[in-house]
Amino acid sequence: MIQLVIGSQWGDEGKGKIVDMMARNADLVVRFHGGNNAGHTVVVNGKKFAFHLIPSGILQKKPIVVIANGVVIDPDILMEEMAIFEKMGMNLKKKLVISPRCHLIMPYHKELDAAYENARGKNKLGTTKRGIGPVYADKVSYNGVRIYELLNWPLFVEKFKFQAEIKNKILVAFGVSPIKVENYLPIYKKLAEKIKPMVRDTFAIFQKAIKQEKYILLEGAHAVMLDNNFGLYPFVTASNVIEGGVNIGSGIPSKKIDEIWGVVKAYTSRVGGGPLPTELFDKIADDIREKGYEYGTTTGRPRRIGWLDLSAVKFACLLSSINRIAITKIDILSGLSQIKVCVNYKLNGKKIEFSQCGYLELSKLTPVYKSFPGWSEDISKIKSFKKLPINCQKYVKFIEKYLGVKVKIVSVSPEREASIFV
Ligand code: IMP
Repeated sequence: MIQLVIGSQWGDEGKGKIVDMMARNADLVVRFHGGNNAGHTVVVNGKKFAFHLIPSGILQKKPIVVIANGVVIDPDILMEEMAIFEKMGMNLKKKLVISPRCHLIMPYHKELDAAYENARGKNKLGTTKRGIGPVYADKVSYNGVRIYELLNWPLFVEKFKFQAEIKNKILVAFGVSPIKVENYLPIYKKLAEKIKPMVRDTFAIFQKAIKQEKYILLEGAHAVMLDNNFGLYPFVTASNVIEGGVNIGSGIPSKKIDEIWGVVKAYTSRVGGGPLPTELFDKIADDIREKGYEYGTTTGRPRRIGWLDLSAVKFACLLSSINRIAITKIDILSGLSQIKVCVNYKLNGKKIEFSQCGYLELSKLTPVYKSFPGWSEDISKIKSFKKLPINCQKYVKFIEKYLGVKVKIVSVSPEREASIFV
């Protein structure tokens, strides 16, 4: 069986927890795009794990975790995360596989990301400054440096020097100090030696797994609204987040995917700039932020908060053929007397669909809300859907009906075990 899990909003839906839970029986857990701009949080027995690059399935015993070709790798972060899991006693030579086709985040990518953001001034996009845009730009313009080159050291050094020379000219034009290649070579050399036993042709691994009908879990990062093609460009990330990104980023044909899970947080959050139609600026937003600990796992920035935007989520479902929904963080809404959901938008008094909006339209439109009475009970220990407060059940049922997709999981606390299977 092949399952895909993707975020259906602006990220931080709680995918990490859902993936960790599903990964229990998986043979392979695969990341196929993005880099350490992602942040997943998994809570096991009260202990919180936050990581960025290695797939969330790593905390389960059974699966081998794979960083497939679509992922971009920052050597410092990979080494840091590997050290954490090795300290926990994991044998990463058996547990982790890395594609030689992964592109490397080089020091100039991070510098360029920050330099562009600073130069944009008040129009800054709010990137994570992890070098994501610049590394993917180099990838598509044939200027990338991959793990493949890293393992062919003289080639790596040659490419690094060539690229650094050009990038340094751009950095100097931005008024930023040029990077010194020799300062970084030891870091990359160390990475090369460390990961060599883990670098394998992932295409062959996946083909074999598909043939043997193994259980493959594909872990999406970020979310549909941040997709480079279908998100609110330029307030997007650089990778292909949607279902089609699986084929590009792993080589696994989309047709082979059996289940496509959309993770829907019971409200909306967003880090970074760009329009957010249902954004709240009042005490409700502050309360949700504090209660839901809505601060970026990667950057620590406070997240912007809004009501659930079903119009946007519906677009995500259609775009990626989402056929199962996991609702997360619904417990955070406990205690609100009224809960709102955006069911469509109006622009100049006329109804308009999410797909018709660019960021200019989206920042001007008026969301149309449906209101629901809230519930006050603590629901974090509830184990069955029928035991949830009736108003909570109604909220979930409305989401299901609106999206036309079955809600299969309702997560009621960050803990691994705290999920209701509907
Ligand atoms: P970048 O991916 O660092 O280039 O940032 C581009 C935009 O995507 C910014 O608005 C980031 O805040 C946002 N972003 C990237 N990754 C994530 C994520 O995993 N969760 C939420 N927002 C993200």
